[in-house]
Amino acid sequence: MKHIFKEGQNPNRPLLLLLHGTGGDENDLLPLAEMIDPEASVLSVRGNTLENGMPRFFRRLAEGVFDEEDLIFRTNELNEFINTSAKEYHFDRNNVIAIGYSNGANIAASLLFHFKDALKGAILHHPMVPRRGIELPNLEGTPVFIAAGVNDPICPQQESIDLKELLETVGAQVEVRWENRGHQLTMSEVQAAKQWYEHLFE
Ligand code: MLT
Repeated sequence: MKHIFKEGQNPNRPLLLLLHGTGGDENDLLPLAEMIDPEASVLSVRGNTLENGMPRFFRRLAEGVFDEEDLIFRTNELNEFINTSAKEYHFDRNNVIAIGYSNGANIAASLLFHFKDALKGAILHHPMVPRRGIELPNLEGTPVFIAAGVNDPICPQQESIDLKELLETVGAQVEVRWENRGHQLTMSEVQAAKQWYEHLFE
């Protein structure tokens, strides 16, 4: 997969896995990683599918309607890519924190939904429930931060409420930060994510 790897100053910090939104690329979230943990190594990945020329992490049939078969295929593909990258770049595969926005948050949530150990934790900006009606792996103690907008037309409130509930059912520790905004990624939610991260990982 197209990506950027940046080695951090401190190899004991988590590896930050950056996953952009629809139409973005691997450069988009680099400033976020710098804010969350300037000492951490970063693996920023570009989604492998295109929608009218816009990179995405999996195909969708319509706005908010996911192509489940492709979602499953792409989730496996991304997980394998993290596995091989850990060997190539010598980072700890068991110490990976995802930071995703929108479509990138959805594939990060899908990693959590399909694999017990894909992620040590996740910061999900404006996510949705990636799949419904499946059994989730045991995520006992996995910390997840969700930032959502109360007026988000793309990711309705109920999506974040349901996602929190589904993850908590299998033991994840989920914190939701509500912004009085829409789908945009705000500075104040990034600050809140930073506080959450520092409390848990520093
Ligand atoms: C998705 O397709 O993943 C969501 O609708 C969010 C987005 O527009 O990327």
